[in-house]
Amino acid sequence: MSGFARHASALEALKTRGRLRVLSGRGGYDFASNDYLGLADSDLLRNAAMAAIQRGVPVGSGGSRLLRGNAEEHELLEAEAAAFFSSEAALFMGGGFVANTAIFSTLPMQGDLVLFDEWVHASAHEGMKLGRADTQAFAHNDVSDAAAKLEAWQGGRVWIAVESVYSMDGDIAPLKALAELAVKHDAVLVVDEAHATGAFGAGLAHGLPGDIVGLHTCGKGLGVHGALITADRVLIDTLIAKARSFIYATAPSPLNAALVRAALAELSQSDTLPKAHQALVAHAHAEAERCLGLTGFDSQIMPVIVGEDRPALDLAARMQAHGYDIRAIRPPTVPKGTSRLRIPITLNTPAEVITEMFETLAKEMAK
Ligand SMILES: Cc1ncc(COP(=O)(O)O)c(C=O)c1O
Repeated sequence: MSGFARHASALEALKTRGRLRVLSGRGGYDFASNDYLGLADSDLLRNAAMAAIQRGVPVGSGGSRLLRGNAEEHELLEAEAAAFFSSEAALFMGGGFVANTAIFSTLPMQGDLVLFDEWVHASAHEGMKLGRADTQAFAHNDVSDAAAKLEAWQGGRVWIAVESVYSMDGDIAPLKALAELAVKHDAVLVVDEAHATGAFGAGLAHGLPGDIVGLHTCGKGLGVHGALITADRVLIDTLIAKARSFIYATAPSPLNAALVRAALAELSQSDTLPKAHQALVAHAHAEAERCLGLTGFDSQIMPVIVGEDRPALDLAARMQAHGYDIRAIRPPTVPKGTSRLRIPITLNTPAEVITEMFETLAKEMAK
């Protein structure tokens, strides 16, 4: 390993600054996953997997969708997803990261503008870097800033990029106003619903007017893995024909597609899970206020801002020692000085445990 001394010293430098990312095991109550509806380890999906295996769904796809990798399960899933999300067409990809890369590197054309909320996910940035359109940020959730930038733009089509529920703050984008703005300027609204899909049924942009491209990741609220892009047929066909991360990649496992179909089927038949989740989230918001005096949460993602990196890491470690799997999030994932505990509420953790967790957190934060 002596040949990699520069890598080793770069890691050492990150460690000294409290910024080193390392893997750690799961343990304790789930206050860390994005498995919002508790589907990932559910009988519902386990039984769906067994049924799929029994009806002969292949485990591996064997190649790119454009070659022999295109399986019936992929196409059935896409048809069902288009119906569930009320879009003209859908495309299944290996994950949200590659899907965002595909969207932003392929759909906005040379001469177009991607106008993105300054907080959009790293994967949208990767896509923009690979794409040919111009890019400009607008201030987080600030519709008038977006409007001013749209009005000043003189080039081609504008693609407004936002998340519906922001992954680190859990706040919700003003989607209705953004959709109206997009309609007014003949712009496309690209909504990353990673943290809304499932938790909020078909997502928060569902039913909004205008040209909307949706990104529905399948590894969070849907409990599986992969991502569905929803859009007009011509945009989906463009992705199939041109998106490098779609073309030059082995198709996701057909079994994976079968499981996503089962998750969507459950959500289209009943809103029991999203409703139970919303009730639990309301309980968590109330307990955060009672125990910590914290208010203003919009969703199941509850950030508790600590400030500097080390105190955030220490607090997370102390909570883990009490049996609560809570993780600290540090820059560059979040802005400097806002290191935090990111506490997602999932159906994996009962209400009484949420209460005990906030009571323990209040005691630890008072130390
Ligand atoms: C907002 C957002 N978009 C995209 C992704 C990437 O999705 P996936 O985990 O399916 O690759 C994530 C996941 O971290 C996310 O939070």
